[in-house]
Amino acid sequence: MTQPPTAAAAQGRPRLVERYRAFLPISDATPSLTLGEGFTPLVRLGRIGGALGVANLYAKVEGQNPTGSFKDRGMVVAVSKALEAGAQALICASTGNTSASAAAYGAAAGLEVVVVLPRGQIAAGKLLQAQVAGAKVVAIEGNFDDALRVVRELAGSAAHPITLVNSVNPYRLDGQKTGAFEVCDDLGRAPDVLAIPVGNAGNISAYWAGFRDYRAAGITESLPRMFGFQAEGAAPIVLGRRVESPETIATAIRIGDPASWTKAVAARDDSGGLIEAVSDDEILAAWRDLARQEGLFCEPSSAASLAGIRRLAAENRLERDATIVCVLTGSGLKDPRTAEASVGSPLVADPTAAAVSAALGW
Ligand code: F0G
Repeated sequence: MTQPPTAAAAQGRPRLVERYRAFLPISDATPSLTLGEGFTPLVRLGRIGGALGVANLYAKVEGQNPTGSFKDRGMVVAVSKALEAGAQALICASTGNTSASAAAYGAAAGLEVVVVLPRGQIAAGKLLQAQVAGAKVVAIEGNFDDALRVVRELAGSAAHPITLVNSVNPYRLDGQKTGAFEVCDDLGRAPDVLAIPVGNAGNISAYWAGFRDYRAAGITESLPRMFGFQAEGAAPIVLGRRVESPETIATAIRIGDPASWTKAVAARDDSGGLIEAVSDDEILAAWRDLARQEGLFCEPSSAASLAGIRRLAAENRLERDATIVCVLTGSGLKDPRTAEASVGSPLVADPTAAAVSAALGW
């Protein structure tokens, strides 16, 4: 019979910031804070990869983080460092996930949290996460870029001593590097290609920094090519100019003036990679297929990574023997309305086997 875990074993579950402490700005003076972030699965996309002729296609399932997105990796570091510095309040702009994460970690740390969001553009689950966690939520008549401008101004003014936890806070990107470390640890090497959605462009920059850290430390021998994907209606890096009114169904990456633009371009160019745009239709098709063919329910923005890989495969621009990792950045449960719009109503039947059979057409 299996033995119940001992107390020691229960305590042995590693913490993300401890596991990668050598690569993080964590010292003995940094308060310990965790909601169980990181250690997300790397899942082989057998059916989708098979159809593409790419045998080694994987998804990094970041929706399994505590608040359902990759943001928790950076937030745990940023909020720990804010506590260490004696902060009492946090502020961020967000397309939804950063605010959900800031609200949760702020609550756990006993800090006041203020989030500024583009009104009417936040997926339902994300908005509720911030509200239920007790954050003060301000919806502005403007887009994410406007919200970021506002919070930068508020955080910078002496009248409001409050820590900015958007990815312009360097601790956020430090923490997000751990996604790259985990991918390498799970594969036993660096992937050949890392495909990732690009919004404010922090995550592609963080992954690239993580891959370089691991190679510099001699843990890996190679570096991946970084493939970033923006939504067609919100593709400033692809166009090479700011987009005043970004539009896409992928609201998480509805951003016209990314804060980490320069870093993302460097990640692209230094890695021999690319940043291209995918259409909302391509995003939705990839999103649906991830759920239906692989059992992975991510949010639409997350599927931009696979949509891009499928586009490149269709254009014969992929090496089929490459090891490719698509980062699925957030959980599908975040955005029930987009999901609702893509499915019909459930079948309805009386509570008998005969009626259920009839409803199924058996
Ligand atoms: N995928 C999801 C699910 C996101 O929430 C975001 C960004 C991205 C991808 C893009 O990552 O910004 O580092 O390039 N969400 C931010 C937010 C902007 O406020 O939650 P990025």
